[in-house]
Amino acid sequence: MRKKLVAGNWKMHGCLAENDQLLADVVDRLTGLSSDQFAVCVPYPYLFSVQNTLKDTNIAWGAQNLSQFEKGAYTGEVSAAMLKDFGCRYVIVGHSERRTLFNESNVVVAEKYSAAQHAGIVPILCVGESLKQRDDGITETIIAEQLAEVIQRAGVESLDSAVVAYEPIWAIGTGKTATPQQAEDVHAFIRKEIAKQNSSVADNLTILYGGSVKASNALELFAMPDIDGGLIGGASLVADEFVAICRALVH
Ligand code: 13P
Repeated sequence: MRKKLVAGNWKMHGCLAENDQLLADVVDRLTGLSSDQFAVCVPYPYLFSVQNTLKDTNIAWGAQNLSQFEKGAYTGEVSAAMLKDFGCRYVIVGHSERRTLFNESNVVVAEKYSAAQHAGIVPILCVGESLKQRDDGITETIIAEQLAEVIQRAGVESLDSAVVAYEPIWAIGTGKTATPQQAEDVHAFIRKEIAKQNSSVADNLTILYGGSVKASNALELFAMPDIDGGLIGGASLVADEFVAICRALVH
């Protein structure tokens, strides 16, 4: 059975007091619900405190980015080993905000993916098209390219220890969610694309949908056959919303 997952992406939000309050509101309400299916990806400075808060709970934690380099003179960067030191189970790589605002290419994203895996951290590899690319009818081409670089570098079997997140850029933070069918079509394409190289890897791969997931639309999205959960931005900062989305996964 494919693993299901809801992961929050806090992005650059929060402070110690707010994070404590949010997690206090979430932890109790998810206790006993399921193990191994919930996570939050937090800003680097809060990893220490989040690790302490979550270590005996059923919520895993991770980061939102990492360096592609192992160590050295890279001022301001954070390595995979450092994330491992703080108990990170996951790290988001290739989020569209990193690709577009910080010019991360498919090559850099693939290097980061490998760096995470070498340290024993599960990369959550984000792929997705812009509105223009969708309108131009090249969604599948773009996503195939984003996947190909990673597969070429790390091998298709590496996806056994990874999660893929389909996040259409036009649906991120816009309130404009892909319809369940639109999302399903791309998820099925991703699985088919990977199955060309290894069908069992494709069958077992957890593929999340991200882009304006809310309590009100999570159930119908998660009901689609190739959608195995969600990567949640804004709604992961609101305890009631995040708890409801997690419940929708395991209902
Ligand atoms: P929103 O849920 O705020 O649209 O963000 C999605 C996202 O980018 C998660 O990584």
